Amino acid sequence: MKNNSYTIKVNLKSNPYKVLIEKGSIKLIGSELIRLGIKKSTKILVVSNPVVANHYGDLVLGKLKESGFEANLLIIEAGEDKKNQASISLIHDSAYENNLERTSLMIALGGGVIGDMTGFAASTWLRGISFIQIPTTLLSMVDASVGGKTGINHPQGKNLIGAFHQPKLVLIDTKTLNTLPSREFKAGMAEVIKYGVIVDKELFKKLEDADCIDNLKLIPDDLLLDIIYHSVQAKALIVEKDELEGGLRAILNYGHTFGHAIEALSGYEQWVHGEAVAIGMIAIGELAIKKKFWTIKENTRQQDLLLKAGLPISWPNLDIDKVINALKSDKKVREGNIRFVMPLSIGNVKIVDSISIKELYDFLSELNNL
Ligand code: NAD
Ligand code: GLY
Repeated sequence: MKNNSYTIKVNLKSNPYKVLIEKGSIKLIGSELIRLGIKKSTKILVVSNPVVANHYGDLVLGKLKESGFEANLLIIEAGEDKKNQASISLIHDSAYENNLERTSLMIALGGGVIGDMTGFAASTWLRGISFIQIPTTLLSMVDASVGGKTGINHPQGKNLIGAFHQPKLVLIDTKTLNTLPSREFKAGMAEVIKYGVIVDKELFKKLEDADCIDNLKLIPDDLLLDIIYHSVQAKALIVEKDELEGGLRAILNYGHTFGHAIEALSGYEQWVHGEAVAIGMIAIGELAIKKKFWTIKENTRQQDLLLKAGLPISWPNLDIDKVINALKSDKKVREGNIRFVMPLSIGNVKIVDSISIKELYDFLSELNNL
């Protein structure tokens, strides 16, 4: 760390890139492109949604212009319900209208939805052009913008269509969180807590010891930078070991198996992604007690931290058959077995595929009656 700025290198053999974490770093976008060797003549398409473009669109375009780049801004509606083929077509239409070539660049300016869609559009335009992530939600800073998973939802399931396409740079400006609604900030904290449970017990302890983690205004700048740094570092190390999710990377989906089912069954409306993940972490924590993978004490630590972050922890009463069907369409299913990322202790998880459908039925009816 230097002057309240962290740089993490994602050391992938064919696509190494830098994640810069710094308050105010959005202003560096032009100079960072020059540092990357991007030519001034490169055509740039910045993709954002109305809210984020309103706050930061002019700033990004202005800074690019100051450094001698010309860029166009495409604004598309981008809620979870718009994470679909129609939105990708809008980005491709704009790529066509702006004559984007193989050497052109897309910049995703927004949360995980904009990042995932822009990355996917970039991966498919002319069979793949470069893109850069400027994440503006806590969730996209600590998770979605790093690691190269891009994609959209299918009507039958979340993120079923997509591609691995690594960004050339991730620019995290914590100042952009000042305009983020409090509910979205708390949702991002679910993914931070996830890193604590899966690999980083020190991060978990830091969060437990912090005076406050559910209100950005009460979190000191250095603590905020530190927890984003720990989260991105954890993700980078996992992605470096298993870029294409042959095995280890699946642990990043901790809490997501039940979380995705909750999101799909509620039509992506009742809960935002991070909230569904928090409820999913509670559910897998309960299953881990039932199957004796971890202790009630560890489970209580997780529950207390999720509560401290202001996240929902109650399982919604859901149709069990529908939950099982949603779990079966999870991307981690192998040869019909539902695979769960099971917690063993804070900082330690393992993949388990031995839970039978009958056990799941019993467990889900217990959850419904809690
Ligand atoms: P999001 O992109 O929907 O953004 C949440 C809301 O915050 C939106 O309404 C947006 O307009 C608003 N917003 C964003 N930045 C803002 C700012 N600075 N100021 C004011 N408002 C702002 O949600 P998200 O939580 O960032 O991302 C969720 C998506 O990320 C899901 O689709 C999920 O599947 C995906 N995701 C992907 C990965 C990955 O590895 N690719 C990892 C985790 C999640
Ligand atoms: N968010 C899960 C992953 O990047 O693999």
